[in-house]
Amino acid sequence: MAVTGPHTTDLPTLPAHPDPETDQVLDSGLLHELSYAFGGPFHFLLPHRFDANLTAFRTALRDAGVAGRVYYAKKANKAAVWLERCAANDAGVDVASAPELRQALGHGVRGEHLVVTGPAKSEELLRLAVRHGCLIAVDALDELDLLRALAGEGAGRPARLLLRRLPPAQPHSRFGMPDAELTAALERCVRAGDAVRMEGFSFHLAGYATRPRADLAGELLDWCLRARALGLPADRISIGGGFAVDYTSAGHWQTFLAGQRPEHYHAGKTFRNADFYPYHSPVAGAGALREILATVPANGHTTLAARLRETGTRLLTEPGRALLDTAGASVFRVQGVKDRDGYRIVTVDGTSLSLSEQWFNSEYLPDPQLVTPAGRAHGDGVHPACVGGASCLDSDLLTWRKIRFPARPRVGDLLVYPNTAGYQMDSNESPFHDLALPPKVVLDRLGARPRWRLDRRPAL
Ligand SMILES: Cc1ncc(COP(=O)(O)O)c(C=O)c1O
Repeated sequence: MAVTGPHTTDLPTLPAHPDPETDQVLDSGLLHELSYAFGGPFHFLLPHRFDANLTAFRTALRDAGVAGRVYYAKKANKAAVWLERCAANDAGVDVASAPELRQALGHGVRGEHLVVTGPAKSEELLRLAVRHGCLIAVDALDELDLLRALAGEGAGRPARLLLRRLPPAQPHSRFGMPDAELTAALERCVRAGDAVRMEGFSFHLAGYATRPRADLAGELLDWCLRARALGLPADRISIGGGFAVDYTSAGHWQTFLAGQRPEHYHAGKTFRNADFYPYHSPVAGAGALREILATVPANGHTTLAARLRETGTRLLTEPGRALLDTAGASVFRVQGVKDRDGYRIVTVDGTSLSLSEQWFNSEYLPDPQLVTPAGRAHGDGVHPACVGGASCLDSDLLTWRKIRFPARPRVGDLLVYPNTAGYQMDSNESPFHDLALPPKVVLDRLGARPRWRLDRRPAL
């Protein structure tokens, strides 16, 4: 029986873009098998989607006649399969810790195809990076001094580096160096002689707008010319990540933002529109890169692409979320259902740590799909329910919002959260309550009989 309550009819929904290929997986029965086998939540990964996203980024560079490299920002997801795809496709990886660097090397990515980012990097990370010929985005003058010292230790090769720019439009960022420090860093690079190879400049901007990225890239090109005049190679710039992902249509997103109110959430919880990820972006992924390349930076007269070509400068990008768009989903089993006034509380077999938006005072909004043993639930019913985690914390909700499920969720049904590979699924996971971390399953073949394997073989 559908639940009716004071607000059931106007409960907002936010369906993800249709994904018929993934729907086939949901209808195939495989997910119930895997849920039974693992006895807990799990994630499934779609490597062919990663390949397609990577190709789209590379095609955007190629179409603009710009030389460059795409580095997958590994922080966005811990699975091994993405590194395998980078190795197979000869793509780069952006790593920010010694374990990330080791993982990338261990899965076959060459050291020279790694860019090392992050602030105040550990000596261990810098030493490994120099030894393996990685490109290091230097964040501060003291880091540059340490790097010079390590490069002189006898590894026999120069430290390849970029100098990271503090974005003038984001002066409170704790990353990068302001003008005066960049000037001092250039002098130190010149003095370091063969110990370092100063290859250019980098930045990473918060937000997803393309215009500020093009403007700052234009500025970095001027810095490259300045560095070249000092005799440094400076033949590349990195514009970091921050390529938006478009999860849902403009119409759904606008309707959601206009309609959402505290009574649509369990316990009257409030979420500010400004704190949500922008789930709809008219320009996203590789399309955002195309737009950046086609923009005339504030300090120039020709497009960024033209300036890169004219100055013989390579463009490096570090997309994380955008390379993972549509490349994975998270699966939870319904473990309990209780009635509340006008809605239900569904408790699943995992926790909200598998959906990291809760970290940002926010919530992962694309609607989860209800999957019964016979496939996706369909129908016109309205069965509102929020989704709680299997922990003893009152605040452990995967979804505070009362989702309009088309059927009554029952114990043993599955909830599948779409498009979670980018930052959602594993950024914050921990074995809370001694619950096992959700395994990751790679789907190498889709269709009526999908083919699966574990992302990592179990340790003996
Ligand atoms: C230096 C750097 N590069 C790349 C990224 C990846 O960003 P995104 O996943 O939004 O593309 C980040 C994210 O924090 C970053 O700090």
